[in-house]
Amino acid sequence: MDVLINVFVALHIIGIASLLGGFLTQTKAMSAGTARFTPPMLHGALTMLVTGMVLVGLNQADDQALNNIKIGVKMAVLVVILGIVYVKRDDEAAAKPLFGAVGGLTVANILIATLWA
Ligand code: HEM
Repeated sequence: MDVLINVFVALHIIGIASLLGGFLTQTKAMSAGTARFTPPMLHGALTMLVTGMVLVGLNQADDQALNNIKIGVKMAVLVVILGIVYVKRDDEAAAKPLFGAVGGLTVANILIATLWA
């Protein structure tokens, strides 16, 4: 079970790499107002949600205690990110504040995941 959980943690981290990487490659375009929500950002966010839910199930099946409040907060923030990226995925250019908000919420989720015990 440990190996399976670790495989999904790895997939979980590949998801955040895709979401944050998609944002970071476009910070210059964001300043110019030409950034857009690219497929890696959408697929990264979806990967986070799916692997996160699988991780909850695997940890429960393995009788591992989870911080449910932390996971709930991560999920709530991610649902907002996913909603924005999904709805705006076909827009030619994303408004600077909205694109910046997705980057900020993504970093906030990383800090919640790593700093909250
Ligand atoms: C952008 C959003 C997210 C980020 C940045 C993130 C980040 C992380 C990181 C770095 C880990 C490994 C470190 C650790 O074990 O604590 C982790 C584990 C985990 N994540 Fe996430 N996560 C996100 C969203 C979610 C969501 C939406 C769920 C549930 C639906 C979830 C459920 C879990 C679970 C169950 C674990 C493993 C158990 C644990 O040790 O807490 N995550 N996450």
